[in-house]
Amino acid sequence: MLLEVKDLWVHHGRAPALKGVTLAVSEGSLVALVGPNGAGKSTLVRTISGLKRASAGEILFDGKRIDRVPAHKIVGLGIAHVPEGRRVFPDMTVFENLRMGAYRRLRSGKLMLRDSAFDDDLALTYEHFPRLKERSRQRAGSLSGGEQQMLAIGRALMARPRLLLLDEPSIGLAPRMVQEIAQVIAAITRRWRVGILLIEQNARMAFRIAQHAYVLETGQVVITGATDALAQNEEVKRVYLG
Ligand SMILES: Nc1ncnc2c1ncn2[C@@H]1O[C@H](COP(=O)(O)OP(=O)(O)OP(=O)(O)O)[C@@H](O)[C@H]1O
Ligand SMILES: [Mg+2]
Repeated sequence: MLLEVKDLWVHHGRAPALKGVTLAVSEGSLVALVGPNGAGKSTLVRTISGLKRASAGEILFDGKRIDRVPAHKIVGLGIAHVPEGRRVFPDMTVFENLRMGAYRRLRSGKLMLRDSAFDDDLALTYEHFPRLKERSRQRAGSLSGGEQQMLAIGRALMARPRLLLLDEPSIGLAPRMVQEIAQVIAAITRRWRVGILLIEQNARMAFRIAQHAYVLETGQVVITGATDALAQNEEVKRVYLG
């Protein structure tokens, strides 16, 4: 299993934000995590990426414990996190942002800037996001919100992660842009053989592209299953797909 979260507890101060969460993402699969505001979704991915410390439970990546590993090393293991609010480097160009994504691999000598591997990854990223290619020399801060979200995802891909954590990529985007992002996320799962944990408040969108889903409410997984089965569940339909 690529990612396993076992009976995870996380506190903010004394208040528990996650109360015994168990979840898994298998290699190359797309898993959705949905739930209302404040359910603990961001806390979960922040804990997986080492930004927040667990109080109890385990996180395993490739079968190895990572819940005590600091954030900068988590990235090196192959876990990329696109946080809420599409953070890009606003004063750098689109291309420079994408190059930053590959920075670790470039610096470690695993990749050269003139390397065909770098070119291939860049070409594939531009294939998913043709708008980024057209705007490669544009300042990232001048992109639209949807374009910045695409850039944030593209930059994460340039690190060639094995696990991609996407925290609400569709938030604040117009319906057409949501559809576009959804299609690209589905295509990325197929083309990059990367496991994706997709956090969404737009459950309808997430269920359409994910194979498996978890519903998180007040720090606990209340429902889980294959998305086609969950889409038939009366309560899920009423609360999340209504
Ligand atoms: N840094 C923090 N300090 C104190 N409490 C926090 C902190 N971050 C989150 N919380 C609390 O933890 C709970 C879970 O928050 P979290 O951000 O994980 O929810 P979420 O599911 O991502 O919500 P949203 O959909 O609104 O992004 C909330 O009650 C929130 O107020
Ligand atoms: Mg959140």
